[in-house]
Amino acid sequence: MAFELPPLPYSYDALGPYMSAETLEFHHDKHHKAYVDKGNELIAGTGLENLSLEDAMVAAFKDKTKAGLFNQLGQHYNHLHFCNWMKQGGGGAKIPGALEAKIKSDLDGFDGFKKKFVEAGMTQFGSGWAWLAMDNATGKLEIMKTANGENPVVYGKTALLGVDVWEHSYYIDYRNARPKYLEAFVDNLINWEYVAELHEKGPLKIAA
Ligand SMILES: [Fe+2]
Repeated sequence: MAFELPPLPYSYDALGPYMSAETLEFHHDKHHKAYVDKGNELIAGTGLENLSLEDAMVAAFKDKTKAGLFNQLGQHYNHLHFCNWMKQGGGGAKIPGALEAKIKSDLDGFDGFKKKFVEAGMTQFGSGWAWLAMDNATGKLEIMKTANGENPVVYGKTALLGVDVWEHSYYIDYRNARPKYLEAFVDNLINWEYVAELHEKGPLKIAA
């Protein structure tokens, strides 16, 4: 079953002024589309075609001969969620109750989360992502950073929230000011309801 690029869940101009229509159009229509197209091309004939995206992504990550395929599948997974991790009028400390309590106990509350999350994004050298992840064994929340298309899932964790720190995600709007982009993401864009939904679902189950 071929992977597909779903439409953005909002209009291109919905996230202004924090993320412009130009950024969203390029990010979704060019970058994310390329990951989907290339992923479909590279997965043909590998035997992974009929797996779920999550299972195929983890299998490709474990097989170092499939690094090229992993990059595309990892980025498809990351971007599918990324557009849902943002919304118009989002961000700040308006976090649904159960998740807010967990962030308080595991990360010293919203301020602790913000400090560690922004720092992870700032210190990810080169392209990659910063994450709020849940350990599948303990349920504990943690902040992580990963390079390129990697994500918490390939390290046995569940991705609850991620921010793209590839330059294509912020260079049009913020130029080289990655910290300003990260602050704007946390203060004005995070869709906490979607993060809470993923948290309530619990650990992501991978077949492999
Ligand atoms: Fe991206």
